[in-house]
Amino acid sequence: MACKRSSYYLTTPIYYVNDVPHLGTAYTTIAADVMARYRRMQGHDVRFLTGLDEHGQKVEQAAVAAGMTPQAWVDKLAPAFKETWDLLDINYDIFMRTTSDEHRRSVQALARRLYENGDIYAGNYEGWYCVPDETYWTDSELADDQEVSGDEGEIKIPSCPQCNRPLTYVREKNWFFRLSKYTDFLINHYEKDPGAMGPDTRRNEVLSFLRGGLNDLSISRANVSWGIPLPWTEEGDDPQTMYVWFDALINYITAVGFGACEDGADEACTREFTYRWPAQVHFVGKDIIRFHCIIWPAMLHAAGLALPKTVFAHGFLLTKGEKMSKSKGNAVTPAQLVERFGVDGYRYYFMRDVVFGQDGSISDEAMVQRFNGDLANDWGNLCSRLFSMVGKYCGGVVPSYVGDIAADGAEGAVLRDITAGLGARVEDAYDRFDYSGALSAVWELVRAANRYLEESAPWGLAKDPDAADQLGNVLYSALEAVRVIALYTAPVMPATSDEVMARMGCSPATTSIDLEACAKWGLLEAGNVVEKGEPLFLRLEVEKEQ
Ligand code: MSP
Repeated sequence: MACKRSSYYLTTPIYYVNDVPHLGTAYTTIAADVMARYRRMQGHDVRFLTGLDEHGQKVEQAAVAAGMTPQAWVDKLAPAFKETWDLLDINYDIFMRTTSDEHRRSVQALARRLYENGDIYAGNYEGWYCVPDETYWTDSELADDQEVSGDEGEIKIPSCPQCNRPLTYVREKNWFFRLSKYTDFLINHYEKDPGAMGPDTRRNEVLSFLRGGLNDLSISRANVSWGIPLPWTEEGDDPQTMYVWFDALINYITAVGFGACEDGADEACTREFTYRWPAQVHFVGKDIIRFHCIIWPAMLHAAGLALPKTVFAHGFLLTKGEKMSKSKGNAVTPAQLVERFGVDGYRYYFMRDVVFGQDGSISDEAMVQRFNGDLANDWGNLCSRLFSMVGKYCGGVVPSYVGDIAADGAEGAVLRDITAGLGARVEDAYDRFDYSGALSAVWELVRAANRYLEESAPWGLAKDPDAADQLGNVLYSALEAVRVIALYTAPVMPATSDEVMARMGCSPATTSIDLEACAKWGLLEAGNVVEKGEPLFLRLEVEKEQ
């Protein structure tokens, strides 16, 4: 467990600027945001990086088709991402664009380092390339029914094993990174450190791929001009640009200062870099683990840099059993879901219902069920009936707790005892990237608080003049549970938590920098004004199939 207040650096993939932000990219980004918010609330010094992957053949082709320069094209597309992240309450610290000067310097610095170490050499590339995925494929990776040789030199165009779109044949002089040299190093790394990659199924996948042996990797393109130029050329050659994945991965160190000094670009010249690097976690989708768990660590190791502590791969969001994607026409936009479920309802659903690390089917029906059950009925209703009772029976202020709140068998002890163990359970879940587990632990308190109100029946106590102290203690205890719930749900539903805290006269949950201390039982101040306010979540109906 990292010491609180230490640096916590986490990243999302940088998204292809050509695509609009969709539920898949929003999913990775929300998960990273929740982790960033949780770690901030614990007191860590967090840096949360997201951004855009703006180079490569795909972007170049799209810009040409749009009749624009690639730079004008990416400048036009970039704001949609920031707008979506703002809409979803994503509180990132750094928004990287790979077309920035700092990134170019950083990529060139890293490439130069590998070149000078002898890890980059000139060779000839001949093979298949997927432009939409910006990925090289070897013949052996293509399916048998996609044999590339045909009669009389005729070549059948195979399709990409990943996205199924037609591949392009590339034959050119390229620069290669000696990836194969690092095979044993990587095997050893993942065997020795099970925490280096999660979940376990993905780690096994990476290990078995590594055991099959690695080829060196072409890291430059001769005929793609939209990229970062290699900082060297050989006589007689046109300058080449960096392979877009080689460029993109480096953004993770650019963002924390690598290559910030022009001359020599030595990371030691920036304190930020030594303080921030390595990252605690790179969040990725399962489709891009080879880049993050094989190529990237090999590049870092070759450059003498530390490896990220963890790469965690989530699964795909599926609708009716199929991966959601624009090309399949089964994509819903984040804005549509926000309109229906609100930002926090949206964030809650994906964090609670989809097990992080596995594929997850999503549907309007399941979303409505979660929304109505967990949010409107359990959480929203707890707040509204409790706040209204405080209005009715306590003049709208937090009553004082009479007696020893810490005593055995004290009023509200059942909630106090759940709270006592909650911080550790939530932390353990977040340490394992188990968002759903963290939320379900908090929901035990939500449900217990509702049960507690039912069982102690404040409406009955209010009729008994001798039960005034008990009534106050019951309401105080339930309010205290609400405060604790608001704190622990704040990483997932920040606006709702802050609203609940405001209604109880407390400082915003999201400003906590010592979550466990803030969640200590009995800190709620008597006399705070409690406002009933509007319902937090209004029940929804399942939408008819569209
Ligand atoms: N640009 C590269 C990443 C470079 S990082 C150095 C890239 N970009 S991407 O825009 O295609 O998508 C990135 C992320 O979105 C991936 O993590 C991918 O898994 C995720 N998703 C895209 N569709 C998805 C679903 N349907 N479900 C869940 N996530 C999926 O790859």
